Amino acid sequence: MNIETMRGYKMVQKANILRANNLYPFFRSIGDSEGTVVKVDGLDQIMIGSNNYLGLTHHPHVIESAIKAIEKYGTGCTGSRFLNGNLTIHEELEDRLAKYVGHEASLVFSTGMQTNLGVISALCGPKDCLLFDSENHASLIDASRLALGPTFKYKHNNMESLEQVLAENVNRFNHVWIVTDGVFSMTGELAKLPEIVELAEKYGAHVYNDDAHGIGVMGSQGRGTLTHFDLVDRVALNMGTFSKSFASIGGVITGSVEMIDYIKHNARSFMFSASMPPSAVATVTACLDVIEQDTSLHDRLWANVDMMRQGFKDIGFYTYNSQTPIIPIFIGDEMKALTVTNYLKDNGVFATPVLPPAVPKGEALIRTSYMASHSNEELTKVLEVLKKAKQEFDIPATIH
Ligand SMILES: Cc1ncc(COP(=O)(O)O)c(C=O)c1O
Repeated sequence: MNIETMRGYKMVQKANILRANNLYPFFRSIGDSEGTVVKVDGLDQIMIGSNNYLGLTHHPHVIESAIKAIEKYGTGCTGSRFLNGNLTIHEELEDRLAKYVGHEASLVFSTGMQTNLGVISALCGPKDCLLFDSENHASLIDASRLALGPTFKYKHNNMESLEQVLAENVNRFNHVWIVTDGVFSMTGELAKLPEIVELAEKYGAHVYNDDAHGIGVMGSQGRGTLTHFDLVDRVALNMGTFSKSFASIGGVITGSVEMIDYIKHNARSFMFSASMPPSAVATVTACLDVIEQDTSLHDRLWANVDMMRQGFKDIGFYTYNSQTPIIPIFIGDEMKALTVTNYLKDNGVFATPVLPPAVPKGEALIRTSYMASHSNEELTKVLEVLKKAKQEFDIPATIH
């Protein structure tokens, strides 16, 4: 087959150019991990490129619970929840997650991406429509492609633009769903949920919040962006993942008992895919135990985030409107972002560049993010390396 004629070949060409110039930043092979420090090519790197916000991947209670679950239930469920793969621990976890987020019921999926794909396609029939923030996550974009009704985009976090698409469409469709990331994953910015909910109520639309980066982090005890904004009862559906704060893999949707039962019987990525493995279920349950018991966990997270935000301000980086543990550094030029990433790697810091088309042309950035488990010494070293990088590569202090 001639892959050169295939639609995505440009990406391969670009990867080949970067590899030839020793600037390829993807698929870095991690040989060992202690959570905040990973080994790449035999060298220790301080990890500031992960979504392990609570640092629970290596927590002793979490590890022990996962091992015990494997011993009791085996390594996999070998079928979907719908048929043979429904364990009591799936249902117990769902009860706890519903209470944690503050909704009546919840349903767990095998990944966050499958949650978005399954729920959105189940919600949006041919007479319904979706209103999407233009910077929604790729999994939501793919979900909108599976939906039978159309999608209309509004400008990123722009409430005039949302009101315009609402006014244009509410009378044309049966159900209108406003779909947004709660925390935008590249910039760490929060969605304007209070205004979004006001507009939804004004026009009789429903809200779907993708809280992949908010659950575990935002609001009291990390209950999510809905708790942060005190909007739990006014948002119909809240989605979360376990691939970030919950140290595992899987996803969850929370809402009313009625709505969750509807999703259970309509979401194809739930019904026709094997269920979350026992070790993953036990990991998430154990993370909830730690969150409940360790009252200083979130204090440590936010102290680290505050330290880095202040440090970046002192160095003179532009960090967008980040209000979360994700703190991006605006770089601008794509090649410069790749060169800076390499420099960080050579100096013991693991961070990831975000390049066009994930961001607009000329707006490349380096995404950094912080964990409750980072030590003061680790973060001090990161700031030292970044300060030198700022001077060496003339990283701009503003976006324009
Ligand atoms: C905003 C958002 N939604 C959904 C997902 C998908 O989650 P998962 O990794 O659990 O499939 C991600 C993961 O990157 C995300 O950032």
